[in-house]
Amino acid sequence: MSRPLVHVLGGPNLGRLGTRQPEIYGRTSWAELAELCARWAAAVGLELVFEQTDGEGDLVQLIHRAADRQAAGLILNAAGYTHTSVAVRDAVAALAIPVIELHLSNPDAREPFRRQNLLADVVTAGIRGLGVSGYRLALEGMADLLGVRGDARA
Ligand code: DQA
Repeated sequence: MSRPLVHVLGGPNLGRLGTRQPEIYGRTSWAELAELCARWAAAVGLELVFEQTDGEGDLVQLIHRAADRQAAGLILNAAGYTHTSVAVRDAVAALAIPVIELHLSNPDAREPFRRQNLLADVVTAGIRGLGVSGYRLALEGMADLLGVRGDARA
């Protein structure tokens, strides 16, 4: 049986993970995170697409592409665009699949401008402040939302 396809998308500056403000975002690089997510997705019975872009329009297109590829779910760290982008919000709102919003840090515990979140009311669920573990939890949560039972699942 084919595994449900889940897209994990990253927004601007996440390609710099590992060296970018490691005291806030940790020391795991985006490439290392891709490997971890591939392992975690397989363990919970999901097919994974893992992509990142720095551009706002590019991120909108990656969200459209998830829909076009018939993804069953989306895990989105829109990074800075979370706080600013009506276009990213509109693309997410147009999806008919579960969307988990994810942040490595807890934006609410940081600068006041990060408390503006244009995605919070158009997503299914949110995970924040748990670093890289948040991606494992998001993949597990998505598997549960989709009713998937992988080998490693209870
Ligand atoms: C982030 C939090 C955002 O406020 C910030 O702009 C990022 C990363 C996070 O994962 O903690 O780039 O989304």
